Amino acid sequence: MELKKGYFITFEGADGCGKTTQIKLINQWLNENSIDTVLTLEPGDTELGKSLRQILLHYDKPVANTAEAFLYLADRAQHVKYLIQPALKDKKVILCDRYTDSTVAYQGYGRGEDTERINYLNNIATEGLEPDLTLVFDVKSETAQKRVGKDKDRLESEGMDFHKKVRQGYLELAKKYPHRIKVIDANRGIEEVFSSTKEAIGELLNL
Ligand code: TMP
Repeated sequence: MELKKGYFITFEGADGCGKTTQIKLINQWLNENSIDTVLTLEPGDTELGKSLRQILLHYDKPVANTAEAFLYLADRAQHVKYLIQPALKDKKVILCDRYTDSTVAYQGYGRGEDTERINYLNNIATEGLEPDLTLVFDVKSETAQKRVGKDKDRLESEGMDFHKKVRQGYLELAKKYPHRIKVIDANRGIEEVFSSTKEAIGELLNL
C-alpha cells in the first residue's frame, strides 16, 4: 500500500526496556497490513556507523563525554543523510531504534552534559529532522537491568545511578514534548506492551 507521505517513528528507552522486541513486532504487523517499512537503529546502521558503534560500545579506555556525544552525532548525521531521508522520500514508514532523544537522555541527563547544547548539536546532525512520533518505553531501572543480563557493553556497564538518571531524562523529555513523545508502560508483559504500541502507531497512520 502506497502512503501519501513517509513517516518517521522512533523507539526510545533505557537499556533493557524491551523496545527492540516491540520494534520487531510492529515491523511485522505493519508488513502484514501491506505497509512498507524500513527497520533501522542507532548507532550503527550505515557502513560508517558500524565502525562507530564498535568504538562506542566496546572501546575500553576512557572516553571524554564530548567525544562520546560527537561519535553518536556523527553516526546520526550519516544515518539521516544516507538512510532516513531517502526512505522518507520513498514514502516508507521508518521504525528507528534510538535517535536524538537517546543523546539527550544518555549524554545529557546520564553523563550530565548540558542538554541545550546537545539539542543544538542534534539539530546540526539531523538538519532539523524530527520524528513524527516517539515512543518511550518506560520501565523500572531495577527490572531493566535484570533484563540486560550479565553480558554488558560499555554503556550498559554504568551503575544504577546512571540508568536512573537516563530513565528520568526520558520522562522529562516526554513532559517537555507531549505532542511528539508518548510514554508506554513497559513494566507489563510483551503482549500488553505491544497492544499499547500498536494503538499509538495505528493512530498516527490511521490504521
Ligand atoms: P542499543 O543497545 O539500543 O543498540 O544502544 C546502544 C547504546 O548506546 C545504549 O546503551 C544507548 C547508547 N546511546 C547513547 O548513549 N547515546 C545515543 O545517542 C544513542 C543513539 C545510544
